Amino acid sequence: MLRFDPHNVRPFLDDSAVDALWPRVEAAHNALLNKTGTGNDYLGWIDMVNDPNDALLEDVSALAAEIRANADVFLSIGIGGSYLGAKAVVQALTPYFGGSGPEILFAGHHMSGAYMRELLAYLEGKSVYVNVISKSGTTLEPALAFRFIRQWLEANFDDADQRIIVTTDPEKGALNELRKEHPYRKYIIPDDVGGRFSVLTPVGLLPIAVAGIDIHSLFYGAVAQAKALKVASRDNDALTYAALRYLLLEGQYDAEVFATFEPSLSGMGGWWQQLMGESEGKELKGLFPASVQYSTDLHSLGQYMQEGQRILIETFLMAEDDGGDLEVPSSAANLDGLDYLNGKTYTHINRKAYEGTAKAHTEGGVPNMTLWLDRINANAIGEAIYFFEHAVGVTGYLMGVNPFNQPGVEAYKKEMFSLLGKPA
Ligand code: PA5
Repeated sequence: MLRFDPHNVRPFLDDSAVDALWPRVEAAHNALLNKTGTGNDYLGWIDMVNDPNDALLEDVSALAAEIRANADVFLSIGIGGSYLGAKAVVQALTPYFGGSGPEILFAGHHMSGAYMRELLAYLEGKSVYVNVISKSGTTLEPALAFRFIRQWLEANFDDADQRIIVTTDPEKGALNELRKEHPYRKYIIPDDVGGRFSVLTPVGLLPIAVAGIDIHSLFYGAVAQAKALKVASRDNDALTYAALRYLLLEGQYDAEVFATFEPSLSGMGGWWQQLMGESEGKELKGLFPASVQYSTDLHSLGQYMQEGQRILIETFLMAEDDGGDLEVPSSAANLDGLDYLNGKTYTHINRKAYEGTAKAHTEGGVPNMTLWLDRINANAIGEAIYFFEHAVGVTGYLMGVNPFNQPGVEAYKKEMFSLLGKPA
């Protein structure tokens, strides 16, 4: 069960502001669930959790088991929504060191030639499976990476076509053209699910399952959260989160910082950044989303958080049980002066760092809220994914934008393709 704690917003916002906004919050929630708002042809991510496709989950799990049995490396090629969700969940739910099964690597999320050269060298002699993920099938970064990787696979494996899985549009795009010549296995990205809402489709599910994560539990965490958020009551935490973010944006605040004290959760910050930024940042509106990893970043950005321009709000993602119940050992001479921590756990110390930070930031003028997972497992991550997706849909509608398009990402592509001489 998730727990949302907004009490550090109270000093900055009167409850009456939320009361006054609430009829609009309910209307936005209803527009989302009844599909009457803008962008309503991109709400397949809600249908998916209302009507789970268990056969698909089983199919993905079976292919993942085959890959886990045969691969040293599983290479996921994709960018933006075709990459960030899988990366976030894999980072959250696999061990910091070691672990079993294939190594999960990513490519096609930038255009570094040095990275590609080193990747190709690293893959030498390894059993490699590749999942190329592109809804449009036309995005340059993954298409370019896939050309290099495909040629390397064909040069190194007789069964290269069996080692490639494409995740793409039902019919359109270059990956479907390639499949006319090569019998790659394929998963479909539903038409009505945008990239940043696609982590619970095969886009995210296959890489996540190959990493050994229970995708059934992940998916059903989202299913349970969707049920919990169905009713537009004042107990609906995603609506409270959406309302507070909107009211703060309407006030003096311009940016929202996503912060976690557990390094494994920092990938969730990357996923969250895209979800918030692409959904809200349009028509000169939106909170600028940024993510930080504490306590590391308290020693760098912490200065700005505490004393820079007062334009920041902050959302913490925390876990009640973070798996850090490691007690501080005593030391005979206490030369390091840490005896006051004897017997305390890392979890306790990290928790006090969070509490101290939340208090200091509140006092320093940064309204902050916390979403608590009960523990860092697949179910809780699934819950958090749906929580943020639902919330951003509602905030987008409150702001009066279409939260489900991303027209702005085309501008750089147009200029880049013109400079590269791409034929019309
Ligand atoms: O959210 C989005 O739609 C984008 O981030 C896309 O996922 C990203 O641009 C990749 O697009 P595609 O999957 O078509 O290659």
